[in-house]
Amino acid sequence: MKTRKFVCALAAAFVLSSAAPAAELVLVAGASGRTGSAAMRLLDEQGYAVRATTTNRERAERRHGDQWDWVELDVRDRDAVFAAMQDVDHVICAIGSRSLIGGNGPEHVDYRGVVNLVDAAVEAGVRHFVVVTSAAAGPYRERSRMIIFARARHWKTMGENHLKRSGLAYTVIGPSALQEEPAHGGEALRVMARADYETGAVAIADVGMLTVDALVNPDARNKSYGVVRDESVAPGAWREMLKTIRPDSETEEAPDHPLMPDPE
Ligand SMILES: NC(=O)c1ccc[n+]([C@@H]2O[C@H](COP(=O)([O-])OP(=O)(O)OC[C@H]3O[C@@H](n4cnc5c(N)ncnc54)[C@H](OP(=O)(O)O)[C@@H]3O)[C@@H](O)[C@H]2O)c1
Repeated sequence: MKTRKFVCALAAAFVLSSAAPAAELVLVAGASGRTGSAAMRLLDEQGYAVRATTTNRERAERRHGDQWDWVELDVRDRDAVFAAMQDVDHVICAIGSRSLIGGNGPEHVDYRGVVNLVDAAVEAGVRHFVVVTSAAAGPYRERSRMIIFARARHWKTMGENHLKRSGLAYTVIGPSALQEEPAHGGEALRVMARADYETGAVAIADVGMLTVDALVNPDARNKSYGVVRDESVAPGAWREMLKTIRPDSETEEAPDHPLMPDPE
C-alpha cells in the first residue's frame, strides 16, 4: 500500500482544486506552461484533483488568474520535488527548460529535473507518469541539424530513459512543433512511432488532451509516440492508431536496446 506520509510545512500550502474528496490527485509539473495549462483545464473538467506547479506563483497568476492553487516548485530542488509528490496518484510532466544553456538549461531541467520527479514518483507509489518531450527526441534524435537543439534532445532522451527504467507505468508523448491553434484542439491527429516521424505541427490543446487521455488509456501504457496534426484524419481516429504502436520494450525505444544506447 502506498505510504501517505506528509511533509507538514509544504503540505499546508497544497489546496486541491477539485471538490471531489476521493478524486485522484494529478501533479502537473509545468502547469503554468502552454501544454501544462491545457492539461490542467481538462483535468478540472474531468474531476481530477490537481497539484499545479510553477516556479513563480505571481507570474503564473498573471498568466492564468487564480483558477488554480499554485505550488511553487523548481524541479532542480530534489528535496522539494519529493515533498511535492506526497499523495500523488499520477504525474503529468510538461516542463521545458527556458534556456538552451546554463543552470536552467536542458541538462538541469529536462534531464536532472525529470530524474527528480521520477525518483520521487517511485517513492510515492505513483501509478502513471506521463512526460511531454519531443517527437524528435528518443532513439531517433540524431536527425537534429543544429547542435544546440541536438543537445536539448540528448538531455530529454536521458530523462525519458530514466523514466523507462524506473518501473513506473509511463507514457512518453513527443509533440511536433507546438501551435496555439486551434485553441480548443481538433483531435485531427496522427500518432506514430517516433521512428516514423518526419515533420509537422500540432495544437497545444491536443497535446494537453493526449496527456490526460494517457492516464487512463491502456493503449498508451509504456509507449513513446510522436504526434502531428493532420486534417485528413478523422477526429478521434488517432485512438485506433495508438493501438498499433508497439510498447517500447519491443522496439528501439527500449532504453537498453543494443542499437540505441544512451547518448554520449
Ligand atoms: N515549442 C515547441 O514547438 C515544442 C515542440 C516539441 C516539444 N516541445 C516540448 O514540449 C514541452 C512543453 O512545452 P511548452 O511550450 O508547453 O512549455 P512552456 O510553455 O515553455 O512551459 C514550460 C514549463 O516548464 C516550467 N519550468 C521551466 N523550468 C522549470 C524548473 N526549473 N522547475 C520547474 N518547472 C520549470 C515552466 O514553469 P514557470 O513558467 O512557472 O517557470 C513552465 O510551466 C517542453 O518540454 C518542450 O520542450 C516543445
